[in-house]
Amino acid sequence: MNNRSLIAALNFEPQATPPIWLMRQAGRYLPEYQQVRKNFTNFLDMIKRPEICAELALQPINRFDLDASILFSDILTIPSAMGLGLEFGEGHGPIFSNPISSIKDIENLPKSVPHEELRYVYEAVVATKKVLPNQLPLIGFCGSPWTLAAYSIEGKGSKDFIKTKDFLKKNSAAVSTLLEILTQACYEYLKEQIKCGVQAVQIFDSWADILSVEDFEEFSLKPTNQLITLLREDVTTSATPIILFEKAPPREISTNDLKGVTCLSLHWTQDLIKANSAFKGSHVLQGNLNPAILKSDEEEIEKAVNAILEEMSGYPGFIFNLGHGITPDIEPNKVQLMIDLIRNN
Ligand code: CP3
Repeated sequence: MNNRSLIAALNFEPQATPPIWLMRQAGRYLPEYQQVRKNFTNFLDMIKRPEICAELALQPINRFDLDASILFSDILTIPSAMGLGLEFGEGHGPIFSNPISSIKDIENLPKSVPHEELRYVYEAVVATKKVLPNQLPLIGFCGSPWTLAAYSIEGKGSKDFIKTKDFLKKNSAAVSTLLEILTQACYEYLKEQIKCGVQAVQIFDSWADILSVEDFEEFSLKPTNQLITLLREDVTTSATPIILFEKAPPREISTNDLKGVTCLSLHWTQDLIKANSAFKGSHVLQGNLNPAILKSDEEEIEKAVNAILEEMSGYPGFIFNLGHGITPDIEPNKVQLMIDLIRNN
């Protein structure tokens, strides 16, 4: 193995060259992904094929020699397995044909976690472990309970999440019940991924930014912390590093907010200098190059990469990543340039 180790970083070890991986590293910006993707009309059919998931997870590793792989799947598998009717159509994001529109819909959700419906995810973990280069860590993941709840209520991606905000205002007790159901599901889902061999897990709170400060506390941080407590108190999962991505949280996160989290994955709007002093010794940090920078010229990219490397040099546990997922309009050669800059620094 090389001397850039994700696991060492997650154990708070400073490294001369930080390990690198990218949020959404397997996906539409890669021509080799498009080659496989064109064989499937529906994205969901594709992620239900474990050997295809393994092949796709391996693509960015083969191309860039990254220091970690992430399971190829999606955060919406849980609400899909609960019967909300997930569709990934052409030209638009995921849509639920059967979203949560009433308290009754929440009462009617399955009473236990639908593991049979999620088996394809666990099989994808096993298949991916088989093809990954020796010792390269595999990261499992899920959406945060809040992000899954917001998606389940809104039924689709949205700029303003009006339906979700309205539902939350009118039915906050029922939303808390929904969050409890999703927290239990996320816990069991991650536990199963860990049992199948993932060495770290990342929780994506991709819709933290739509909440007010108070609602963020109650509906995002609280259930996420419950999920983390469940993982920490279970002997099967207690030692697995947990990475948490909060997208542009409505207030600054402090060390006391998320005690059981190993690593904070910083959104590109979060200040690295502040994070460096706030979290040194308590949390590993991951991030946080604005993915949009990868659309600019070499000079801009170099400036932005160097600023991060300088700030985080010697930090006990730093992982280089983007400050959100890579987008389809980014050229792979810009990613290669970024990686070369980090490794030749
Ligand atoms: O390398 C990887 O990270 C691949 C695995 C992965 C996917 N989605 C595959 C995917 C992961 C970790 C995700 C997480 C995910 N999914 C998040 C959290 C991360 C974030 O960006 O905040 C969210 C919010 C989703 C929900 C989702 N899935 C959306 C909004 C979309 C459509 C638009 C988009 O962002 O790509 C998807 C579909 C999806 N999931 C694709 C991929 C590669 C594209 C589907 C296609 O090829 O048609």
